Amino acid sequence: MSNAGQAIAFASRLYGQRAGTAYAGYVKRNPLALLRLRPGRANPYPVYDRIRADGRLVPTPLGNWVSASHAVCGEALRNRRFGVRPAESSNAGPEEFDLSFLEMNPPDHTRLRRLAQPAFSPKAVAGYHDLIERTVGDLLDRACAAGGFDLVSAFAAPLPIAVITGLLGIPDADFDEFARYGAVIGSALDGITSLRHARQLQASSAALERLFGKLFALRRSEPQDDIISRLATAGDDQVKPGEILPLCVLLLVAGFETTVNLIGNAVLALLGHPEQWRALCADPPAMAAKAVEETLRYDPPVQLTSRVALESVELDGKTISPGQWVVTLIGGANRDPEAYDSPGTFDIHRVAAADHLAFSSGIHYCLGQPLARLEATIALRLLAERMPGLSQAGPIRRRNTSTIRGPARLPVTAGSARAAQRIPAGT
Ligand code: HEM
Repeated sequence: MSNAGQAIAFASRLYGQRAGTAYAGYVKRNPLALLRLRPGRANPYPVYDRIRADGRLVPTPLGNWVSASHAVCGEALRNRRFGVRPAESSNAGPEEFDLSFLEMNPPDHTRLRRLAQPAFSPKAVAGYHDLIERTVGDLLDRACAAGGFDLVSAFAAPLPIAVITGLLGIPDADFDEFARYGAVIGSALDGITSLRHARQLQASSAALERLFGKLFALRRSEPQDDIISRLATAGDDQVKPGEILPLCVLLLVAGFETTVNLIGNAVLALLGHPEQWRALCADPPAMAAKAVEETLRYDPPVQLTSRVALESVELDGKTISPGQWVVTLIGGANRDPEAYDSPGTFDIHRVAAADHLAFSSGIHYCLGQPLARLEATIALRLLAERMPGLSQAGPIRRRNTSTIRGPARLPVTAGSARAAQRIPAGT
């Protein structure tokens, strides 16, 4: 088929799917479709409650399954009879973006994850502490000078970008280009939204391939202590030539698109619950990590993932046939009343009854979670120490996505540094 023919076929499929989702959501009130539409994006939690009210594991009209139960989602994510792609297919399809081992089953998953693992070991992550603290400090200096600022573009987004480009060993001169193209690729995590989007993606992935190619050549001749050097000098038994680029893109995109939303969701929840913000400001070193954990439970940046049965498997007393998918609604599982008391209450003093699933579970448990936790904890601690008078200064705009959840814009003012300190915590 010609390029123009392919584009027309792609566009008609895409717009056909959109019309189908709108019909299923608005007319048929199908909860999964609603989650992909404006009301579900604005507030998915009532939709999760509705799904949970129908059962712990519910069949979908397309012959798959969905769950908002903490126990069932956890079991599906941990059970090795499920995979992230059907047993017979091992590569990304033509219209999918190749996200390396995130979308692979063992043994390829195990081999590639093992290669990336050392960059996220406790020792390696502790080594990023100073860079994170310096970056947060610089961003807050600039924001303080401005008085009012957009918390997302001025604070939550630049931090993870600076950290992941440092971790990958991307030279300062190439920083802006990597950031620009990485953001476009990250926008595809929720699916391709238009023909224009598909073209931008194609152009950005070609540009990233060129930039990473240059960097691999550099590190092959002069290896340094970074993950690109490790990948560029690894043997064919550890990584095949075509696997290096998708792996780097996965780390870049995972670094860009998730932590920003954790910080954004945390500030949004804290400012929406002033007594919780005051509790954080009263003792930032003790409370910042707790505020991060409660945000991960209450409003997780990744709202859902899915698993496919590789063979026949029993789940919650039902038989899932090979090839059937189970959509695990992480945001719903994290508010399951069977797992948490008052699950809809945001409480940074909460002693968790069950582990939240914000970072998934099982063999695909988020590799970058120690880094994400450290970044967000330092960000909240310094924000509370330096801007206790922080307040929302205008309406938020949400990201136009349903898998990834967070504010796209959150206007705030720093306020007076002493304003919030006068108010006792816990009131
Ligand atoms: C708050 C921030 C983050 C959240 C909420 C998050 C969430 C997740 C989730 C839910 C998964 C598993 C998806 C599934 O089971 O299908 C995952 C996997 C992964 N994450 Fe994160 N992530 C975050 C930050 C990061 C960072 C900063 C990095 C690295 C720079 C990272 C790297 C990865 C990688 C490489 C995987 C694939 C693991 C595997 O397939 O074995 N993540 N993440």
